[in-house]
Amino acid sequence: MTTIRPLRADEQALLSQATLGNINWAGPRYALDDVMNTPTIAHYVAADEGLVAEDGGPVGVVWLRFFPADDPGYGFVEESIPELSIWVAEGHRGRGLGGQLLDGIVALAREKDMPGISLSVEKGNPARHLYERHGFLPAGDGYDSGTLVLRF
Ligand SMILES: CC(C)(COP(=O)(O)OP(=O)(O)OC[C@H]1O[C@@H](n2cnc3c(N)ncnc32)[C@H](O)[C@@H]1OP(=O)(O)O)[C@@H](O)C(=O)NCCC(=O)NCCS
Repeated sequence: MTTIRPLRADEQALLSQATLGNINWAGPRYALDDVMNTPTIAHYVAADEGLVAEDGGPVGVVWLRFFPADDPGYGFVEESIPELSIWVAEGHRGRGLGGQLLDGIVALAREKDMPGISLSVEKGNPARHLYERHGFLPAGDGYDSGTLVLRF
């Protein structure tokens, strides 16, 4: 049975594994060293809020990170809106876990009075359907078409 629990501060290794899974969504293009040695990727290996799906060990994670305007993430919209990252382990995908994690983190962000959540999704990534189903919309003029935002 899968349960959802808060991300702990000591789970950096899980965030690096998940970040690697995210940049490799289209196939194995990068290694763990690339995550840690590329500053624009490495800054995703930290969380302000997060949730972990557990099934005998972590099988998925969603997390939020506030970025400053002078060191923005790919999905940066504004400093008060955190950027979301989400990853579910291969073999556990397509069964609703990603949706459950997304619902959970949206509820948490609302509880904490955050104004919204943004994210970046690369062209062709089927994950875009999942975000759109949860109400994320293109950030609009002046943003990359892969920058989506859910404002509360
Ligand atoms: C995107 C991801 C977190 C979704 O988790 P999940 O548990 O498979 O999600 P769910 O089962 O709740 O929903 C499936 C949705 O995700 C999309 N999806 C993306 N990759 C998928 C995969 N490998 N298998 C099944 N569905 C996938 C589907 O299009 C589906 O959306 P739809 O039902 O609206 O068509 C997960 O597939 C994943 O980790 N993918 C690789 C990393 C990645 O792309 N991360 C997002 C970067 S922006």
